[in-house]
Amino acid sequence: MAQVAVVGGTGTVGSRLVQMLRDRGNDVHVIARSHGVDVMSGDGLDAALRGIPVVIDVINAPVTSKRRSVAFFQTATANLLDAERRAGVGHHVALSIVGIDRVPLGYYLGKRRQEQLIRESDVPWTILRATQLHEFAAQLVDRSRGPVQVVPVMRLQPVAAAEVAALLCDLALSEPSGMAEELAGPEVHELPDLVRRLLRARGSSRRTLPIRLPGETGRTMASGALLPTAAGIRGHQTWDEWLTTAVPPTLMPEST
Ligand SMILES: NC(=O)c1ccc[n+]([C@@H]2O[C@H](COP(=O)([O-])OP(=O)(O)OC[C@H]3O[C@@H](n4cnc5c(N)ncnc54)[C@H](OP(=O)(O)O)[C@@H]3O)[C@@H](O)[C@H]2O)c1
Repeated sequence: MAQVAVVGGTGTVGSRLVQMLRDRGNDVHVIARSHGVDVMSGDGLDAALRGIPVVIDVINAPVTSKRRSVAFFQTATANLLDAERRAGVGHHVALSIVGIDRVPLGYYLGKRRQEQLIRESDVPWTILRATQLHEFAAQLVDRSRGPVQVVPVMRLQPVAAAEVAALLCDLALSEPSGMAEELAGPEVHELPDLVRRLLRARGSSRRTLPIRLPGETGRTMASGALLPTAAGIRGHQTWDEWLTTAVPPTLMPEST
């Protein structure tokens, strides 16, 4: 049995990860504001990491601008790594995203900073880059309001959050290994199609409006720069299987 802290353990990936680690008999500590620990201010962090040898970071913030994303991941990651150093943590595992060096989206610049801080840290580390989750379309829909759903034109190869969580479990319970092989789903899709189909499956009357983001960001996202470029690990569950069989809260029928 290992003692593992999951930072962001209440989130889309984090909640599945916590459950899997517990199912495998590990002693899991959830770090999230809703559990009394704020990684941005550092409140409660030292106490939460006392005696913990392994930390998995799946924290996130719904920020899109470069300034806010870099500020979030810079502060959260630096606070976390400093606290890990004080606590003597022996393995820091983080979840990142395939293709972030090829697409200059503001959010990805924050993820690049997160990776850089981890690589430069003296806490032994593993970074897993995964493609967008099957749940990504639902996250987008749930964070929007109004009759029209604006969707960036994006080619993606989505993977189930449950499969990402399973691989993170394996990596966290192994020796630190630096950059892990990239994880992607089994099929390539266009994001506006997934959003349209998700809304239809929910019985929503919201209309989908695909927009191509300006400049280099829009061009690279639309042309497949977020797809994996090398052979790596592939998830098995297709997006269609996820849509019909998974019942995450985000797929409950809309009340409005
Ligand atoms: N979504 C995707 O398609 C995708 C794909 C590949 C990689 N990723 C990466 O995977 C990670 C997790 O994404 P996700 O979609 O699972 O995230 P999510 O569902 O938005 O969950 C975010 C988590 O972070 C916690 N959190 C936020 N601010 C915090 C703070 N100041 N202190 C402590 N905890 C805080 C939240 O809990 P509280 O609100 O209770 O604090 C929650 O548990 C991200 O780094 C993302 O870049 C995501």
